[in-house]
Amino acid sequence: MEYELARKRIQELSRQINEHNYRYYVLAQPSISDYEYDMLLEELMALEKQFPALLDKNSPSQRVGGQITKKFPAAWHKYPMLSLNNTYSKEELMAFDQRIRKTLDSSHEYVCELKYDGVAISLTYIDGDLVRAVTRGDGVQGDEVTINIKTIRSIPLKLRNASVGTFEVRGEVYMPNASFLALNKEKDKTGEAGFANPRNAAAGSLKLQNSALVARRNLDCFIYGVHGEGLPFETHWESLQALKKWGFKVSDDSRRCASMEEVFGFIEEGEKRRASLPFGIDGVVVKVNNYAQQQALSYTSKFPRWAIAYKYKAERAATRLTDVSFQVGRTGAVTPVAILDPVLLAGSTVKRASLYNEDKINELDLHYNDMVFVEKGGDIIPKIVDVDLPARKHPAKKINFAGNCPECGTPLKKEAGESVHYCPNSQACPPQIQGKIEHFISRRAMNIESLGQGKTELLISKNKISDISDLYYLTYDDLIGLEKKVLDPESQKERIIRFRDKTVKNILSALEKSREVPFERVLFALGIRHLGETMAKKLAQHFSSIDRLQEASTEELIAVHEVGEKMAESIRAYFDNPNNLHIIERLRDADLLFRTEQTQTPARLALAGKSFVVSGVFDKYSRDDIKQLIEGQGGEVKSSISSKTSYVVAGDNMGPEKRKKAEALHIPIIGEKELEDLIKE
Ligand code: IVH
Repeated sequence: MEYELARKRIQELSRQINEHNYRYYVLAQPSISDYEYDMLLEELMALEKQFPALLDKNSPSQRVGGQITKKFPAAWHKYPMLSLNNTYSKEELMAFDQRIRKTLDSSHEYVCELKYDGVAISLTYIDGDLVRAVTRGDGVQGDEVTINIKTIRSIPLKLRNASVGTFEVRGEVYMPNASFLALNKEKDKTGEAGFANPRNAAAGSLKLQNSALVARRNLDCFIYGVHGEGLPFETHWESLQALKKWGFKVSDDSRRCASMEEVFGFIEEGEKRRASLPFGIDGVVVKVNNYAQQQALSYTSKFPRWAIAYKYKAERAATRLTDVSFQVGRTGAVTPVAILDPVLLAGSTVKRASLYNEDKINELDLHYNDMVFVEKGGDIIPKIVDVDLPARKHPAKKINFAGNCPECGTPLKKEAGESVHYCPNSQACPPQIQGKIEHFISRRAMNIESLGQGKTELLISKNKISDISDLYYLTYDDLIGLEKKVLDPESQKERIIRFRDKTVKNILSALEKSREVPFERVLFALGIRHLGETMAKKLAQHFSSIDRLQEASTEELIAVHEVGEKMAESIRAYFDNPNNLHIIERLRDADLLFRTEQTQTPARLALAGKSFVVSGVFDKYSRDDIKQLIEGQGGEVKSSISSKTSYVVAGDNMGPEKRKKAEALHIPIIGEKELEDLIKE
């Protein structure tokens, strides 16, 4: 396609995609199928790839993310981001209204809004284009997180009914409850710690370095205000209507209230609806509607005098703690769970509550049969917040943390400085074995689905398998005729699993097929603590074989983009355990893929097979640019020089130690110009 034609098509596709985004994410009224939408996006991305000069910073293709930010730059707020005065009491709310009446000489009206429980954000638009997104920070200065914000589809990158000039809109980025639960479930599967509540999950997601991951977090954003010079509005309400027209997601739950009676009505309605809303709120914000009146009321150093937040108390119920059970997860972490007399709380029956760890039990000084108060606050999972001490019947037995694993009897361990107990018997503790095998066969790992739903449990109980490598040594004769009664976790009904001819053949053929699963997924399937799918892919690409990964020091691991200390240590600990090495050996003998296939690092790339160490400061490129340049051409970047290093790329101020080492090992030291020449050659 010629350039001019492509420009027009890109414009048209962007317009259409923006329109569909708006319909889907703001109005919740989609007018095309997901498939049709994907086709439009695909065409746009293909054209932008073909004509890179036509890629707009705010093209809807930018929503999928992909850019990496190592450190979010600090940015000043043009208008400070203040907080709100809070109250939990109706009397204080009446006093707020009285103060306003005293200051103003004319009557006033309020706008009541829900108080969304997320992270405040400030978005700057210039001539209708989103140019910057900054978190609240200390109110004066925050972090610039524009790249990540662009992945939130209800935030317009270009305004509808385009508006000229510069202004800032303010809103709350939040994670819907359903996305939060799904995210924590996913984290649990990979042995990562989940987020305590949707607010923390939203805040954590905005700070992710890889915007493609943010795009998958399903964040959303309500807009509740605008700041700018010469804006044509007299009231807050008018500005909310304009924001809606420009394409922002503005809640329809806001309401103008002429009296405190109406304000209390709004508060009560909100409290009733709270439990059934698909996102978290922690109260209601009451704002004076008229801008001139807002100005007259003015500000304290911390918050406006024209607004107040009425906060809902966390929903709470009293019930009896009958027992504590200790649950062992796939990674061996032991979590205490309170068993409660069933009680109704915020629309659902609560029978169990998380007790987190031993410190929490001690802090609450829990005893058996205590009457306890359970809350469902910002946290979706109920928790015990208090004990009714006067109601305790003496003598009462104190709750102690289990000394031994409730599943295998092994004495539990606790690392110094950590609060989590864990069962160290990772090779033989049943839930750990079961969990590891379930993870291994799961769809996103080895995808051996014919082994799901109780079949692994049967194999473990009949001593046919005790680790993941045993799967590949099963024969037809091992399996045929096995049977067991199992309890379906969903329906709580018993059913019988029986291995007949067809089942056995399906299992064996699925195992056979899994030998083709690429290295990155095999690596994920091993179930190394803290190693999720994305990082497994990254490590597989970086090290290209399990042998090289296995040899990597903690420092070399940390040098890989986005690998933190915790993950590096966990990977090292995994490979330092001889049992794991034995399992890998057996899997290798069973022909699983433990290296990336040649097609993934084509030899025709200029730097394929070469290993580089980058040191010093460069003129033309940043150090990260150089690394990306090398990796993009199939080369490998290492943090320390060894005899295997092909080149050291040195800028100014290269460390003298590194220079000495390179010279001693006769490794060529080249500059950025020579690196470019190498690529050209
Ligand atoms: S107005 C000058 N409206 O609550 C005050 N804030 O405690 C401007 N929040 O930082 C804030 N929903 O993150 C306003 N409808 C709403 C809100 C809201 C949630 C958050 C916001 C702010 C915090 C203040």
